[in-house]
Amino acid sequence: MTGGAGFLGSNLCDLLVAQGHEVLCLDNFYTGVRRNVAHLCAHPNFSIIEHDVTNPIFVQVDEIYNLACPASPQHYQRDPVQTLKTSVLGAMNMLGLAKRVNGRILRASTRYAWRLAALSPKAGRVTTRATRDGASGAPTCNPVVVRFYRRLSTRPM
Ligand SMILES: NC(=O)c1ccc[n+]([C@@H]2O[C@H](COP(=O)([O-])OP(=O)(O)OC[C@H]3O[C@@H](n4cnc5c(N)ncnc54)[C@H](O)[C@@H]3O)[C@@H](O)[C@H]2O)c1
Repeated sequence: MTGGAGFLGSNLCDLLVAQGHEVLCLDNFYTGVRRNVAHLCAHPNFSIIEHDVTNPIFVQVDEIYNLACPASPQHYQRDPVQTLKTSVLGAMNMLGLAKRVNGRILRASTRYAWRLAALSPKAGRVTTRATRDGASGAPTCNPVVVRFYRRLSTRPM
């Protein structure tokens, strides 16, 4: 679970641990906080690593939930370059991991991605209009990144 100490990630960690799954939570605590998952830390099926998804990680997992990205405007606008790196490099690192372990990946995105996809089915085309900040710039790259990795994968991504 990347972004596992955030709002969605921590709730999903709760759910998966309650269902009996082993959960590895990765977070750099950019917006998330340890106390969101503190109650899980003593659980034998839960572990947490402080890790920035812009760096690759080599772990053995079956499924990846890639939720690492600040979600609210005040956070993703604070450092647009970091936001873009998290969205694009982070996505590539996690898609690469999914490919290596032949695992499934779920990737959350911002409303910009849906809006862009709705406006243009060829959302991968890079436009400068959509790059005011990291969060709105990333969806111009991400559909392309996901499509490339999907072609390489033997499992549905
Ligand atoms: N909250 C919503 O209602 C909602 C709705 C639709 C989509 N989303 C998307 O879901 C994702 C998560 O949303 P959220 O509300 O949980 O956000 P959040 O800010 O609460 O959580 C994001 C988590 O990612 C971590 N993070 C940020 N950059 C990181 C990095 N480089 N490496 C590792 N961890 C990093 C943060 O520390 C935080 O714990 C976002 O992509 C968001 O756009 C959220």
